[in-house]
Amino acid sequence: MSDHEPVSVLGLGAMGTALAEALLAAGHPTTVWNRTGAKADPLLAKGANGANTPADAIIANRLVVVCLLDYDSVRQVLAPHTDVLAGRTLINLTNGTPGQAEEMAEWAADHGADYLDGGIMAVPPMIATPAAFLLYSGPSGAFESSRPVLDVFGESIYLGNAPGLAALHDLALLSGMYGMIIGTLQAFALVRAAGVPTTEFAPLLSRWLGNMSGWPAAAAEQIDKGDYGSGVVSNLAMQAAAYPNFATAAEELGISFELLAPLESLMRRRVADGHGHEDLTGVIELLEK
Ligand SMILES: NC(=O)c1ccc[n+]([C@@H]2O[C@H](COP(=O)([O-])OP(=O)(O)OC[C@H]3O[C@@H](n4cnc5c(N)ncnc54)[C@H](OP(=O)(O)O)[C@@H]3O)[C@@H](O)[C@H]2O)c1
Repeated sequence: MSDHEPVSVLGLGAMGTALAEALLAAGHPTTVWNRTGAKADPLLAKGANGANTPADAIIANRLVVVCLLDYDSVRQVLAPHTDVLAGRTLINLTNGTPGQAEEMAEWAADHGADYLDGGIMAVPPMIATPAAFLLYSGPSGAFESSRPVLDVFGESIYLGNAPGLAALHDLALLSGMYGMIIGTLQAFALVRAAGVPTTEFAPLLSRWLGNMSGWPAAAAEQIDKGDYGSGVVSNLAMQAAAYPNFATAAEELGISFELLAPLESLMRRRVADGHGHEDLTGVIELLEK
């Protein structure tokens, strides 16, 4: 297969535009479609082919990259064009859930298309830089045959045949990211309420978060073993005793505690259940419904 296989891109928001630009820059003939047609103009100026309808874009090429707001928009765009899907490989980089990906894979198969689901672990300016990595799941043959194109966007990480795996890992990684954002916003709110500019504080926070970057690997060891009591250096009872200080300080400084509040009740329950001598990681047991 040529390194410059032609590709169609449906969806030219911030991310779809970055993907299409990367394809053009790498020399792939690229056909683009977007609901709001004017967003295609800068890409047309860079040599993209414009498609008037999603069907025209799908017909144009075997590889069809879809990057829309959500799965509802993907369904709205693709559903009227089932007659042109056979023989195509749909690469859906729209954020969604494992269940949505599985449903979409079945739907695509019903219409004769291969389906790869993807999760983009990058923001648009990172696309086609060494920092970007993208997660894929679906048939390995479809992944391998699409790989020269996928590698244009960033490092391609294939997770397996089950269609939902990319969305699962994507949402799990974003969960970690939002946890960091929650903590960062609370930290900034605290210092700002005391008159400390967040720009002055940010380097200290980055240093501290960097020091904590080994936590996921250490926690994962305990969690996979189901052993929350070995190698404990900061026991849960101690952490649960200190945690109310966040709420009290927030009150003293006149800010909300709602971002951090949920962990407090989980810690208390775990201590009450007799796990105070263990590590905080045991809280994961309370998350299983
Ligand atoms: N931006 C990021 O940092 C980032 C990072 C990783 C993953 N993602 C994921 O990438 C996907 C696209 O994100 P984005 O940043 O490109 O979003 P965006 O800039 O808001 O663009 C949304 C795109 O979806 C289209 N769209 C929305 N509803 C539609 C509908 N009902 N019918 C047809 N088209 C519709 C929009 O078309 P119009 O132009 O006509 O409105 C536009 O092309 C999302 O699933 C997002 O979660 C984004």
